[in-house]
Amino acid sequence: MVALRKFIQPNLYSNIRNIYTASSLRSHELVVHRDNPDNNEGTHFEFTIDNVTRIEAMIKNYPRGSERSALGAALDLAQRQIGWVPISAMHKVAQMLHIPRIRVYEWATFYTMNKRQYRGKYNVKVCKTTPCMLRGADIIIRAVEESCCCRVGELSPDYMFGVDVVECQGACVNAPVIAIDDDYFEDLTLCDIPRIIGCLKSGNIPTPGPQNGRFAAEPICGLTTLWQQPPGPGFMLQPALSSR
Ligand code: FES
Repeated sequence: MVALRKFIQPNLYSNIRNIYTASSLRSHELVVHRDNPDNNEGTHFEFTIDNVTRIEAMIKNYPRGSERSALGAALDLAQRQIGWVPISAMHKVAQMLHIPRIRVYEWATFYTMNKRQYRGKYNVKVCKTTPCMLRGADIIIRAVEESCCCRVGELSPDYMFGVDVVECQGACVNAPVIAIDDDYFEDLTLCDIPRIIGCLKSGNIPTPGPQNGRFAAEPICGLTTLWQQPPGPGFMLQPALSSR
């Protein structure tokens, strides 16, 4: 790089460095916890009786001494109970699984499905990894922000929506994709976003999956392979190997 600088005039060099002009998209939180008035050790959290029973049953799935294996499921239950995972819920999980709190912190800060801040009644996650970007994720992000009335990383004024950008959701063949809580909405166009968000606003559940009418990830123009019934067991088997 030093050698390169020598042969390029300063103003030309700075132009080269400024080629990248896209704005940075912020995620909703840091990977570390910072105490705040809504999320600290004193934040009230107790599992419901039903969820305590569920966690006890999950712990029994694992051998004695490996109760920590129920950690992910226990955190998921906490999140489903109140919509997010405050640090007090992590402490409760550590207590129930008899593991150090740091083990729960490690898990909760690594897996992004753990919402460590309240992300609205519906958490809208827009995939921004390469296949989705190539299929217009940047425009989808703007449409989601407009429909939800909040920017990426923020909550809508009525706390109904929290918008985030996420990495690959594993549905690239149906790009562009958004995930709203447990549901994926795929093969999106600009028109689909106001319809999906509007449906949630009116208290209805939009139909998840591909929005262009295709089934799962099959070709939009119909089958291109597997036209016939596949041959059964023994197809092309040498006669000498046949049991008959
Ligand atoms: Fe968006 Fe894979 S890149 S689902």
